[in-house]
Amino acid sequence: MTEKLFFDVCEVAAWGWLRRLMLGGHHDGSRGCFVESHRRQNRAGSATAGRSGPDDLTWLQERATARARAERWFTDPRLRPVSIGYDDRDTATSRLLCLQVGLAQVGRPVRRLLDVSCGGGDLLAEAARIVPEVVGVDPVAVAVAAARQRLTGGPRCRVDELSMEQLADPAGQTLGTFDLAIMHLVFGLVENPLAGLLAVADRLSEGGLFYATDLLRPAAFNADPHVAVAFRPANSDEHAYLVDQVAASFSWDELIALGQAVERCAPVRVEVRAGGLGGFDIASGQARRLVAARAQHMIPLLRRFEDDGAPEGAGPPPYEVMWHLYLRRLT
Ligand SMILES: C[S@@+](CC[C@H](N)C(=O)[O-])C[C@H]1O[C@@H](n2cnc3c(N)ncnc32)[C@H](O)[C@@H]1O
Repeated sequence: MTEKLFFDVCEVAAWGWLRRLMLGGHHDGSRGCFVESHRRQNRAGSATAGRSGPDDLTWLQERATARARAERWFTDPRLRPVSIGYDDRDTATSRLLCLQVGLAQVGRPVRRLLDVSCGGGDLLAEAARIVPEVVGVDPVAVAVAAARQRLTGGPRCRVDELSMEQLADPAGQTLGTFDLAIMHLVFGLVENPLAGLLAVADRLSEGGLFYATDLLRPAAFNADPHVAVAFRPANSDEHAYLVDQVAASFSWDELIALGQAVERCAPVRVEVRAGGLGGFDIASGQARRLVAARAQHMIPLLRRFEDDGAPEGAGPPPYEVMWHLYLRRLT
């Protein structure tokens, strides 16, 4: 029954949000070979393959300007309504699905969950219904205030004003360790992503999992058409917001390089994937197992993608649009 429902959902959602956002993929509309080319493009990268030297990370310094441009949409009070408006409307289902993918992938009961850059606390509020203890951090004071207001779970819920990197500081260490840490649509904003990944690795208990997902910056990048096709902004402000977010996001090669660097520095195993459900081809056994593990929660969310679907005739974008990173603490 579960599998039947899953494939029903995939069938109906064929050209909707499910494929548009979660699958991405290369679409040759004239020959209708989306599925084939998606399969060719969907891929996983093990960070341990082909280790490279530390000089490979010099590009991290060059992304400072793009990162700052992307960040101001969350810190500038005149721009914040644009990011909040778009995110509340268009990323709510993706956020909840991210939580469910994390819970399915951790492979053990989750007693403590950390949401890194939790924003207004929507993911935390949902997690608090499932997990005994949830903690959120965000470096932006107004986001922390909103999340605290949203969460009414008493001592089981806590939100601190901290960046990802500050999880390694004494204030971060007082949070303790977690079975599962989640990060949804944030990583492009992080000032020092290598330090951030090492800090979050430090906050995981042995065998614990960090699952992050964010926009994938295409290798040959022209932000304007990419954003218009992939993310359907409602107006020019939202378009500008999304162009800045994609410009600051990471490319496939950059993520692999970061994963390799983290594995050199910490007892972790990093896997980077692109497209699909949690990075798994929607037709694969892994995707089916993911859904089966959390069927009660995941199937309604997959159905919601169908309801949020793209207008009739609008195909998926001609690119993969999301990456997925799994970082598992080994000892
Ligand atoms: C697109 S929102 C996502 C929020 C939340 N994860 C969600 O899915 O609703 C981006 C979040 O990153 C936070 N942020 C802004 N600058 C940041 C930085 N330098 N490092 C980490 N997070 C940052 C913002 O406050 C905001 O909450």
